Amino acid sequence: MHKTFNRATINMCRFTLVLVAVLGMYACKSTISFSADESEMQIRKRTDFTKDWSFHLGDQQNAQAANFDDSQWRKLNLPHDWSVEGEFSKDNPAGTGGGALPGGIGWYRKSFVVSEEDKGKLFFIDFDGVYTNSEVWVNGQYLGKRPNGYISFRYDLTPYLNYGDQENVIAVKVDNSQQPNSRWYSGSGIYRNVWMVKTNPVHVAHLGTFVTTPEVNEQIARIAIKTKIDGKATQKDGYALSSVIYDADNREVARVTSDNLQLNAETNEFDQNLTVENPRLWSVEEPYLYKVVTLVEQDGEVVDNFETPLGIRYFNFDVERGFSLNGKQMKILGVCNHHDLGALGAAINTRALERQLEIMKGMGVNGIRTSHNPPAPELLELCDKMGFIVMDEMFDMWKKEKSKYDYSHVWDEWHKQDLQDFIRRDRNHPSVFIWSIGNEIPEQGDSTGTLIATELAHIVKNLDKTRPITAGLNEPYPHNTIYKSGELDLVGFNYHHQDFEKFPETFPGEKFIATETTSALATRGSYDMPSDSIRRWPYKWDEPFTDGNEDLTVSAYDNVSAPWGSTHEETWKVMKKHDFLSGMFIWTGFDYIGEPTPYGWPARSSYFGVVDLAGFPKDSYYMYKSEWTNETVLHVFPHWNWKPGKLVDVWAYYNNADEVELFLNGKALGTKKKEGDDLHVMWRIPFQPGTLRAVSRKDGKEVLTKEVKTAGAPAKIMLKADRENIKADGKDLSFVTVKILDKDGNIVPGADNMVNFKIAGNAFIAGVDNGLQTSMEPFKASQRSAFHGLALAILQAKEEAGEVTLTATSDGLEPASVIINIE
Ligand code: GAL
Repeated sequence: MHKTFNRATINMCRFTLVLVAVLGMYACKSTISFSADESEMQIRKRTDFTKDWSFHLGDQQNAQAANFDDSQWRKLNLPHDWSVEGEFSKDNPAGTGGGALPGGIGWYRKSFVVSEEDKGKLFFIDFDGVYTNSEVWVNGQYLGKRPNGYISFRYDLTPYLNYGDQENVIAVKVDNSQQPNSRWYSGSGIYRNVWMVKTNPVHVAHLGTFVTTPEVNEQIARIAIKTKIDGKATQKDGYALSSVIYDADNREVARVTSDNLQLNAETNEFDQNLTVENPRLWSVEEPYLYKVVTLVEQDGEVVDNFETPLGIRYFNFDVERGFSLNGKQMKILGVCNHHDLGALGAAINTRALERQLEIMKGMGVNGIRTSHNPPAPELLELCDKMGFIVMDEMFDMWKKEKSKYDYSHVWDEWHKQDLQDFIRRDRNHPSVFIWSIGNEIPEQGDSTGTLIATELAHIVKNLDKTRPITAGLNEPYPHNTIYKSGELDLVGFNYHHQDFEKFPETFPGEKFIATETTSALATRGSYDMPSDSIRRWPYKWDEPFTDGNEDLTVSAYDNVSAPWGSTHEETWKVMKKHDFLSGMFIWTGFDYIGEPTPYGWPARSSYFGVVDLAGFPKDSYYMYKSEWTNETVLHVFPHWNWKPGKLVDVWAYYNNADEVELFLNGKALGTKKKEGDDLHVMWRIPFQPGTLRAVSRKDGKEVLTKEVKTAGAPAKIMLKADRENIKADGKDLSFVTVKILDKDGNIVPGADNMVNFKIAGNAFIAGVDNGLQTSMEPFKASQRSAFHGLALAILQAKEEAGEVTLTATSDGLEPASVIINIE
């Protein structure tokens, strides 16, 4: 029975306050009960369980035992990735494809106590992701294993807990010793967050809500909510289920209640329907978020509360018009990314993810593909808030292996559960628009491709019919057996931009998405001339390549790509021409650790990023920015330090202007205009030291001016923090860019000075980098050499407020410091 009324608002306010007051009370050996009054005990508590773990690298007999002595183990906070703490070596079994960092076995343990008063409550531990083959025990009792390193999972601790003073201990074994098991850097350990969840016996089931918007228009949105409740009750027990929708200002906009619930294994799922009038729609420009608060009450007392994000939007993929969001046609301008966070490795950090997304927004990106695995939940939360269209991807392989020890070996046993858990976890995120059931799956060439695709698509559709399914096909032809299953709502092209325009003839009546494009290669700040001849490196994907540059750099003129891909300009030129090409995901937004195509050792991270591993944009970033944003762009490169007389190609990306004129030391070198489908202009001029000046003009009026000057010898350091005020939460980060300047303040393009960092105050250095793909320097250090004049230091807050000074020194250079406030 459903009715709409206003009860429980008072309860709502009360428990929100209580919740805020008690957050953060879990800690190592802290008690999990709260000394507040009875009513506060009724409500679900989800608490960060990442602090004060003990860690041991290597296997250890009997470390799961409750009484095992771990006092000598290292103390640390999660998330943690032990691989990124290791040394690069060509002998590490992950190989350069996996980043040449160590794997191995690691153990984690954490003790805690649970108050006597909490007898009768249920306790669950939620792991967002453990790489890989995790096994978990509580008090010596085996809870289970999860081979998949990207899946989120939960165990019920309740039957095994001790109450009162007697301690409980969680032990986790992580086995990433059998490598290679991945085609990119995976990281090792409990690299995502862990949560402790306490509920009453009657509570919203794990991932128990599913919120959809079956009808949306400007006037009204119909919201359909399915809620699963765990626990038992008869109608006489007086349980009620309410779903309440709040807008972004926390104003209640709709409510529905179902009374007198009968709860047992057969009748525990409830459908409720609400309407929101004059809904504010979620879009990439304005990602407006409502939320659904689920309340389970017994006789008017709240016994469980649960929040689900709600973005109201509608979208369509059309055979002719491509993608539209809320009735407005647009292109998905996306990037693929792997999950590592550069110098932080795989250890998830929300601010590091947010920074990546900010950098992508700045380039005009509106889409993210979680290649090729379930992402950290925080990524989707950020995409909900920041307005990204996510293609959420589950598998890089099915039953046929791609790397010797990969997931294919446990496919039969695990794929069904992993896929279900993934869809259930992610289906409430408004940012998720597309499910991908696989990337470049070897089965696409035989009949098992059809069988497995059909099975997977049915699993997905059973749990969510509101989003299209695709797969990244590297053989995007009608004979592809995954395509032939007929289960793909969108035909996913990996590469093959030459075939895009033929799509309507090759796949009549089908809808297109470029699941993966480009694979252009570049090292930030490296330039090979002539810039207008294109290199396809390596010649073949499976053969060693030795013809490249001796220093293992790759030119950043957008004149190098993998042979299966294209330069940035080549793909975008086709993509922008036709509406039916609904969108694309560039391989990749950021460089990532591992897969150092086109080179082998000592190259150990990728060259594919539009942005380097440290987060510094390569030049192509500005091509996209000039095409994908309305911001006015004039980007002129390369640097201006060459041998006198050398013929240098000067490129400019620009927009919002008709032409660009170039001057060298005041002398005009000509005005250039993009003609036809040009995306840049170029001058070829003999180098002379001095000042290169470019001026963009519209209707004869100057729009922007940019100068590039010949730099002198390195003389001083400059530091620039991306944020000077960060939170004292032990997690927040300030990314500090280090620039090596000459005496006049010009960045020195060849500078590779070693920079030493010192911190005074409550912070530490979480990682250092410079974006160079072959650097053997450790990421966890308090020094880093610059590369092409830049380096990065990532400062992480501790939990006390105060002022922190980061000082950078280097032999022979004027030092610099920056002050960060920890609040
Ligand atoms: C694709 C593959 C990606 C990455 C990329 C490099 O074929 O899907 O995972 O390997 O090639 O160009």
